[in-house]
Amino acid sequence: MAALLYLHPYLAVLPLLISPICSGASPWRTMTTGSHMRGEDHDKVTLLSPDATFSCGFHEVGTNALTFSIWYTPSASASATERTVVWTANPYSAERGQHSPVNKYGSRLSLNRDGNLVLTDTNGSTVWETKTSSGRHTTAALLDSGNLVIRDSSSGSNKVVWQSFRSPTDTLLPGQELTKDTRLVSGYHHLYFDNDNVLRMLYDGPEITSIYWPSPDYNALKNGRNRFNSTRVAVLDDLGTFVSSDGFRIEASDSGPGVKRRITIGYDGNFRMYSLNASTGAWRVTGQAVIQMCYVHGLCGRNGLCDYLGGLRCRCPPDYEMVDPTNWNRGCKPMFLTTDDGKEFTFVEQPHADYYGFDLSSNESVPFEACRDMCLNSSACLSFTYKGGDGWCYTKGLLYNGQVFPYFPGDSYMKVPKSFNSSAAYSSISNQKEALTCGPAGSAELMLGPASMYGTKKDNINWTYLYVFAAVLGALEMLVIATGWYLFFNKHSIPKSMEDGYKLVTNPFRRFTYRELAEATGKFKEELGRGGAGVVYRGVLEDKKVVAVKKLTDVRQGEEEFWAEVTLIGRINHINLVRMWGFCSEGTKRLLVYEYVENESLDKYLFGERSAESLLGWSQRYKIALGTARGLAYLHHECLEWVVHCDVKPENILLTRDFDAKIADFGLAKLAKQGSTSLNFTHMRGTMGYMAPEWALNSPISAKVDVYSYGVVLLEIVTGIRASSGIVLDERQIDFRQFVQEAKHILSTGSVSDIVDDRLQGHFHADQAVAMVKIAFSCLEERRKRPTMDEIVKVLMSCGDDDDYHPAYSY
Ligand SMILES: *[C@@H]1O[C@H](CO)[C@@H](O)[C@H](O)[C@H]1NC(C)=O
Ligand SMILES: *[C@@H]1O[C@H](CO)[C@@H](O)[C@H](O)[C@H]1NC(C)=O
Ligand SMILES: *[C@@H]1O[C@H](CO)[C@@H](O)[C@H](O)[C@H]1NC(C)=O
Ligand SMILES: *[C@@H]1O[C@H](CO)[C@@H](O)[C@H](O)[C@H]1NC(C)=O
Ligand SMILES: *[C@@H]1O[C@H](CO)[C@@H](O)[C@H](O)[C@H]1NC(C)=O
Ligand SMILES: *[C@@H]1O[C@H](CO)[C@@H](O)[C@H](O)[C@H]1NC(C)=O
Repeated sequence: MAALLYLHPYLAVLPLLISPICSGASPWRTMTTGSHMRGEDHDKVTLLSPDATFSCGFHEVGTNALTFSIWYTPSASASATERTVVWTANPYSAERGQHSPVNKYGSRLSLNRDGNLVLTDTNGSTVWETKTSSGRHTTAALLDSGNLVIRDSSSGSNKVVWQSFRSPTDTLLPGQELTKDTRLVSGYHHLYFDNDNVLRMLYDGPEITSIYWPSPDYNALKNGRNRFNSTRVAVLDDLGTFVSSDGFRIEASDSGPGVKRRITIGYDGNFRMYSLNASTGAWRVTGQAVIQMCYVHGLCGRNGLCDYLGGLRCRCPPDYEMVDPTNWNRGCKPMFLTTDDGKEFTFVEQPHADYYGFDLSSNESVPFEACRDMCLNSSACLSFTYKGGDGWCYTKGLLYNGQVFPYFPGDSYMKVPKSFNSSAAYSSISNQKEALTCGPAGSAELMLGPASMYGTKKDNINWTYLYVFAAVLGALEMLVIATGWYLFFNKHSIPKSMEDGYKLVTNPFRRFTYRELAEATGKFKEELGRGGAGVVYRGVLEDKKVVAVKKLTDVRQGEEEFWAEVTLIGRINHINLVRMWGFCSEGTKRLLVYEYVENESLDKYLFGERSAESLLGWSQRYKIALGTARGLAYLHHECLEWVVHCDVKPENILLTRDFDAKIADFGLAKLAKQGSTSLNFTHMRGTMGYMAPEWALNSPISAKVDVYSYGVVLLEIVTGIRASSGIVLDERQIDFRQFVQEAKHILSTGSVSDIVDDRLQGHFHADQAVAMVKIAFSCLEERRKRPTMDEIVKVLMSCGDDDDYHPAYSY
């Protein structure tokens, strides 16, 4: 059996060995000085690693173009055309703006007598060389790790004088170190160690350079990175854990030994971990750094907008068209003259859009008209972003990094000539959208790579990957709420937008000392409440800010891990989520400092002491239902994909004086569990009555557990009874399941008013009530039939009173 397994990889290369040109010739195990390989023989493997995992030789990248590359030897069952190249001597270089493949005819790879491994093109010019000069006892060999090494074996030393592991291209193999001297590059995107020891990703395009990972809106600490370890080394181990010296860590979702893996930075600027399915030969994404692809720079080019709504797509703003219809990197160009002074301009709104950075001016508390005039009066202004709430006005001189997010609290206004016919432009844009979808839905492909004079193959990106593994477990670096990026103009000028731009930067999140909190709470005198996670006290900070201080009882995490998790939670900022201001971690003491929410929790108003004195009216209930849905949607879809609340119930929904819902205790599911970075909860969390059935069934826990709990809460909001714990109906004691059955029956045969809280005495909005009850029923379905929180928000909003609802955002 063992022998068979051993044979298997060899079988895989048999087709290569018996290829017509070099029948009889077998790939070399080592290459000695004086030997060479001709481009014409490109279908022959030059070097094979001892266990045949890796092959090395000429690799065809176009009709007439070759690279010298290392690839995973395809398995017998895999289609041989799909080679997974892990290293290339002469890759396409965006910086040099040229293609460096060599011609099929006349090019050679030679190990010269002086010990230099050289790749030459047809006319004899050197395209690439190792610059080694170890003499005639030099050998080249491909190791089982995928490392191509050149050894100097003179005088028996066998010293490694060069290795491909030290000059990676876009891929890191297990055991291969990314160091301070090396970087992974794909197109304009780089993964590298920055001067402050932090592992970063950078878009280094022809016009701008900007860091996009980890989030440039936060400093290293807030991104969970350590700037003080100057080792600057990152490595993927055999178990599937990628660890960087700055504290970044990502674990493959299939972590464990015996799997072939790689980390590759894609043409789309994200870096992903892949695992090989040995039986099918297919690679599967098992981890990735950037969750929302719109955060990656350069995808939609200058003036382009990365639109997150309904999948990911690039589009041009009104009256702009693609520069190069085959390549979004090139962006969009205006179809009018921006400098024409005589022309009258007007603005076209792009809801929830923003181009980050490149502000000509930024001013707070500016009326909309003044902001518009500021852009109108400046010939350099191409667009402005206006945030209604606090009147922030940003005028833009260069449009880059455009993105649209449903949760962005402002809108972008594009300056276009008055003669412009917006309805016509919109229709042409929607056509363009159809043609160039880059979302996962269509099969259309987005071409980011260069089309080439050599006829280089297009980069064929499988966009479904971007979503499938959205929940990368344990990666600390998912970019959050921010729509901003730290921009550098040619690497040296200071980015203006950092200081006054998107105020996330001024996030007052901080660490407190225990003494500070003891003082603030008067030695933990005034208890506000008690929950599974701990006791909550009222406190007043030095700056007179009223806070709620939660003393955690069930934290088994170490200091650093706690710090990292809490910092992540601290970044989450949404009007419907209770804001975390900071934390304290001293010895075994773990405390969290939260925004103080005026009123009490929803349960008190629905079923508790408060319900008698001030009954929640219908519009308040609707608002609470929508707010809660928005908060959860934000947790599930907009910020960190893996933030599942796990304990949604009326007790955890706090109400402001205006009866806006604020969800408390999110993120605690992560604090309460030990070590593991995956979502395998060892302990059941949640509260009986609100817990989805899969908790008991031991099935995987996903965001859908929150959807279930939300359904229960929604039903309770409508009926005003604690349905989750069973009720007495027609003098029968019935449990929740029976209750739902009854309610379904009533809805289908009778009137919704028989379900709605009697205490409202008929004062409710029937359409909303029906919609809410129906949503609740769908939430209580089996897992895969439940809607997502985003879908719920949409349905709820579609039945809202149009003028009654003001979108509430806080940033
Ligand atoms: C070989 O061709 C390349 C590109 O076609 C050119 O840049 C180079 O100068 C040529 N070298 C020689 C020695 O002719
Ligand atoms: C720095 O990082 C390296 C590699 O991850 C690690 O081995 C070392 O312990 C770290 N040093 C400190 C002081 O944390
Ligand atoms: C490999 O793929 C096959 C077919 O899709 C699947 O049945 C099998 O579970 C996969 N193996 C692993 C280890 O993922
Ligand atoms: C807005 O800010 C700019 C500087 O960014 C300043 O020059 C200008 O006077 C301000 N305008 C208003 C209306 O406050
Ligand atoms: C813009 O120009 C108009 C007329 O030229 C002037 O009335 C207005 O005050 C200007 N607005 C700003 C913000 O400069
Ligand atoms: C704008 O374009 C539409 C469709 O092409 C056309 O029907 C309409 O008359 C145009 N309006 C103006 C003001 O040009």
